[in-house]
Amino acid sequence: MAYCIGMARETMIRRATHGDAEVIADVFLSARADALPEVPLVHSESETRDYLLRLVTNPANEVWVAERGGGVVGFLSLREDWVDHLYLRPGWYRQDIGTALLNVAKIGRPGGLRLYCFQCNRRARAFYEAQGFFVVRVADGSDNEEHEPDIEYAWSADASAASSRPGSA
Ligand SMILES: CC(C)(COP(=O)(O)OP(=O)(O)OC[C@H]1O[C@@H](n2cnc3c(N)ncnc32)[C@H](O)[C@@H]1OP(=O)(O)O)[C@@H](O)C(=O)NCCC(=O)NCCS
Repeated sequence: MAYCIGMARETMIRRATHGDAEVIADVFLSARADALPEVPLVHSESETRDYLLRLVTNPANEVWVAERGGGVVGFLSLREDWVDHLYLRPGWYRQDIGTALLNVAKIGRPGGLRLYCFQCNRRARAFYEAQGFFVVRVADGSDNEEHEPDIEYAWSADASAASSRPGSA
């Protein structure tokens, strides 16, 4: 399945195939290093690539990629109502590509979405809050592999509609 979003900017959103696993790993590793240099990966590069291959091939996950000019520049991974991963290749930020990927998740999960974000990832926090996500829980990181303080966010179509109605806070 494919969506063309923002044709003026030629962003194509489509379901990932097994053949995308390598480029998805490239995007993840470069974006992770760029966005979170202070939070080293717990696993080696080859373990991370194996993990992302399993992620793409496991039917429990719904993985979408964003293409510009025929090349993959970002991906989003969903499992049930959780956004597990949303990463763009550095250099492609702030061109509505993250919004386009997240919109696919919102359309597919009108009942709501949840995700975790590291507290130190200020760019991502600003992005999610601009997308109508609200803070559910602030945690000290003892539950994640990196032991890095994080935030649980949630979004629901109903809450977004209510907050955008005239007179709402
Ligand atoms: C977070 C990320 C997915 C956002 O995607 P994006 O395509 O850059 O975001 P968009 O262009 O769709 O931005 C939509 C809105 O979010 C807000 N926003 C996005 N980036 C922002 C930033 N750096 N600072 C402040 N607000 C920001 C703005 O309101 C923006 O609208 P505007 O550009 O009209 O002002 C992208 O920056 C990214 O991949 N970062 C590295 C990986 C990462 O941290 N992933 C999240 C892991 S939890």
